[in-house]
Amino acid sequence: MDQRNPAPQNVRMTGSALPLIAIDGPSGVGKSTTARRVAERLGWQYLDTGAMYRAAALAILRTGIPLEDRPSLERLLAGLDLTQEGGRMYLASEDVSEAIRSQEVTRMVTPVSADARVREVLVDQQRHIGSRGHWVVDGRDIGTVVFTQACCKVFLTASPEARARRRFLELLAKGQSPNFEEVLADLQRRDTADSTRAVAPLRKAEDAVELDSSDLSLDQVVDWIVARHQAHS
Ligand code: DC
Repeated sequence: MDQRNPAPQNVRMTGSALPLIAIDGPSGVGKSTTARRVAERLGWQYLDTGAMYRAAALAILRTGIPLEDRPSLERLLAGLDLTQEGGRMYLASEDVSEAIRSQEVTRMVTPVSADARVREVLVDQQRHIGSRGHWVVDGRDIGTVVFTQACCKVFLTASPEARARRRFLELLAKGQSPNFEEVLADLQRRDTADSTRAVAPLRKAEDAVELDSSDLSLDQVVDWIVARHQAHS
């Protein structure tokens, strides 16, 4: 375990009772894979809030509504039917798990997730989902806005270079020919957008513990979070 990261047993837990582990952090840090694995280990459910913003962006793209057209946006948001089941994301009853990973959606999700009204609607849905049962939830504002009473808050980080290297290797493994500098620049653009937006910017909750995963394997990160949770439950 890296010296920069505190041992799990030395970490203070929040005093609240909500059985929910909030994992926030920047793009490409491995939150989704980590959160899914932590949920599997604990037998808890997993909610990917980034996938919800992506599905909302896909719905907006498909209808062609400009974000400035507020009445049309309101109508779309009122009928936005999002569900996650078995690790898949559904828009109405359509499985959009692959469609939400397209470059077009990835571009569109930045302005969509910066829209206060979109966030209001999705945060409501997330609170409704997480209010029953035991959850591991990942995103950008889970510990700071959505579930401030989460029993365990982790702010997962890694250097931009470490995140870009992982993303670069993922794209290579998919048979693509990525350019490292472009991958790095894209991550940095998303970091800036996520942390400087007016509504719910990415930041560490005061009672979250930061885990720098730059030099850790996925297994080490998962073990650390599970150990931290178990040491305090
Ligand atoms: O984690 P991701 O890359 O799938 O997230 C997609 C986008 O949604 C990203 O631009 C950040 C945004 N997001 C957000 O603003 N708040 C969340 N709770 C989750 C994701």
